[in-house]
Amino acid sequence: MTPKWARNKKILLGISGGIAAYKTAELVRALVKSDCEVEIILTETAARLVAPLTLATLSKRRVWQEADLRSDEMGWRIPHITLSDWADVMVIAPCTANVLRMAATGNSSTLLGATMLAFTRPIVFFPAMNSHMLANPATKGNVRTLEGFGHRVVDPDSGPLACGYEGKGRLPSTEAILDETWAAICPKRDFAGRKVLITAGPTHEYIDPVRFISNPSSGKMGYALAAEARYRGADVVLVTGPSNERVPSGVRAIPVTSAQEMQRACLDELQDADVIIKAAAVGDYRARKFSPQKIKREKAEILTIEMERNPDIAREISARRRPGQILVGFAAETENVMENALRKIESKGLDMVVANDVSEDGAGFASNTNHVCVYFSDVLSLQPTPIFGDKLEVASGILDRVAGLMA
Ligand code: PMT
Repeated sequence: MTPKWARNKKILLGISGGIAAYKTAELVRALVKSDCEVEIILTETAARLVAPLTLATLSKRRVWQEADLRSDEMGWRIPHITLSDWADVMVIAPCTANVLRMAATGNSSTLLGATMLAFTRPIVFFPAMNSHMLANPATKGNVRTLEGFGHRVVDPDSGPLACGYEGKGRLPSTEAILDETWAAICPKRDFAGRKVLITAGPTHEYIDPVRFISNPSSGKMGYALAAEARYRGADVVLVTGPSNERVPSGVRAIPVTSAQEMQRACLDELQDADVIIKAAAVGDYRARKFSPQKIKREKAEILTIEMERNPDIAREISARRRPGQILVGFAAETENVMENALRKIESKGLDMVVANDVSEDGAGFASNTNHVCVYFSDVLSLQPTPIFGDKLEVASGILDRVAGLMA
């Protein structure tokens, strides 16, 4: 899902000569699908690893190559200046050790080098190389220099490398590159320096080794909150029940299964959190007795499972939190939505509740969209504030309200 504010952005993609250059065709496609305009600069080596025609076809524009800097045909257009004036953000993926060095030392001897030097907005670097090259103090020094200039240098992934090594140095996934790019151009940075603890997804309360009691939460709402908070600069910890959603780049996920595990993880992370948002659909009950063996169908016509109440994690957080920590809960309701949501503010000690009528079409569990109303503990602001749209838009609206409480 692309955030609304990231649509129609102008992206200048610099592709340097690492083997991962072949993956950039997918990246260009994803950027175009996100309604972005993409201009591409290929280094000489990159042009041997990925065909300029492939990239030109996908971006629907000519691809800029090193010769263009000084050629009679293109040089008069001063591409390094026109391109750098045009773009909202520059993305260098993959970024070789050499291009990292050129950027850190202001080397303008190539089209890509000169463009990086002329560029005045954020540059996001995605280094991808052999792990020894990455760990070399020279490379590390260049990374530090670029970060010192205010640019974003994204840690590569670990795994098998093309050179035969196993380790750090892989180009992150296309989705992760998009996440980091959006984070660099997000118009709001109001969560910078804040730790946001978010819960998402369902819990699974096992009754025997092969069966559990759960609910239809997909995790989409909580994951969208995590992505949006991260774009806005937060340090995000996502305590997540079982979910098939992708963890947004830069978000630290703590996977849990049961409500009790979720409780432990939340309490472990609580101390230095500035904001806690409880979007998870926590199972209210668990089996009183877990059967260590699979319960046999033949044994009884009717199966009665005795359930006991799970801890109320939100209430426990409220009781333990220090002054200044903001606690936001959700209320998934099917009737008397406002009354029940307001009651939850009281009973759980919340600063703000996001009321979610889960019986509505296009809202609640597993849907890509949502429609919520926000209420605050401050009785003066009982006026409901409806927010609707895809779950990223709803997350953005919720965080706007949270930011109001932080001010
Ligand atoms: O995950 P999706 O498919 O995207 O669906 C999103 C959602 C519908 C799950 C989400 O928008 C939502 O409404 N989440 C809250 C679901 C819920 O359990 O609501 P509740 O009214 O039962 O609980 C109220 C609040 O207390 C919630 O913040 C919940 O996280 C918290 N809680 C509940 C029980 C419990 N034992 N401990 C808790 O902390």
